[in-house]
Amino acid sequence: MAVPNPEELKAFRMAFQEKNQSCFILGASGETGKELLVEVLQQQVFSRVTLIGRRKLNLQGPLYASVSQEVVDFEKLDESAAAFQGHAVGFCCLGTTRAKAGAEGFVRVDRDYVEHSAQLAKAGGCRHFVLVSTKSADKTSGFLYPKIKGEVEEKVQALGFERCSIFRPGVLLCDRQETRPLEWMTRKVLGVVAHVFPTALSVPTVTVARAMVNLVMMPAKEGQKVELVENAAIHALGTIK
Ligand SMILES: NC(=O)c1ccc[n+]([C@@H]2O[C@H](COP(=O)([O-])OP(=O)(O)OC[C@H]3O[C@@H](n4cnc5c(N)ncnc54)[C@H](OP(=O)(O)O)[C@@H]3O)[C@@H](O)[C@H]2O)c1
Repeated sequence: MAVPNPEELKAFRMAFQEKNQSCFILGASGETGKELLVEVLQQQVFSRVTLIGRRKLNLQGPLYASVSQEVVDFEKLDESAAAFQGHAVGFCCLGTTRAKAGAEGFVRVDRDYVEHSAQLAKAGGCRHFVLVSTKSADKTSGFLYPKIKGEVEEKVQALGFERCSIFRPGVLLCDRQETRPLEWMTRKVLGVVAHVFPTALSVPTVTVARAMVNLVMMPAKEGQKVELVENAAIHALGTIK
């Protein structure tokens, strides 16, 4: 992926801002989603930002002036189709874990809720859908996590958005509030590895968030409707400003 220099990025940002577009974010209460929300607002790339989630977030201060919130029941998402209407860009950072939601719950959230949201977004006029998937996504895998992530990537691509960007980060580095012992251990080890090979296996959530916003402002490559953004590209895109 060609990464713009700061001057080029600035020009893309100005051109994008002039379009006065709106976006929605799914999963803005999560680790990646909350960094994404701050990045979107700080860069002032959208005139309106809608958070779609199962609960209302306590957002106070002038930074959040352009934000509105839609509380939805993901089991009855068609009833909230209006929330998905009129957004040029849709960001999806939804996800859970098998440990938290069980195997069925994980499939429901990470595949079915994401697919249904993407369908409503497409029907509502969304032109660019941006999905946070994972480095390990593989629909042919015998393991549940990579298999479901691979399946959801395929389902979202099949909807035929004008542009669809799939981010495939490695292990997310952040100060997670919730306890996930295995992930915590992995993160500690990877934190050390990251000093030597910073772009190999992990990526900070702030970097993912900036990469998502930077990519959205950049014009799509001629003729390319789907782009897979791998971990090294996320690092490259997410460190320019
Ligand atoms: N953890 C990693 O190292 C890693 C690595 C690569 C890729 N990923 C993927 O990256 C994405 C973002 O990960 P993250 O760690 O930033 O996520 P996270 O912190 O766990 O946040 C997940 C978001 O999904 C929402 N959500 C979860 N269960 C839900 C349900 N049943 N109904 C409605 N909303 C629900 C949460 O809402 P509430 O706040 O209301 O719960 C939250 O907004 C996920 O798809 C994940 O699989 C993660």
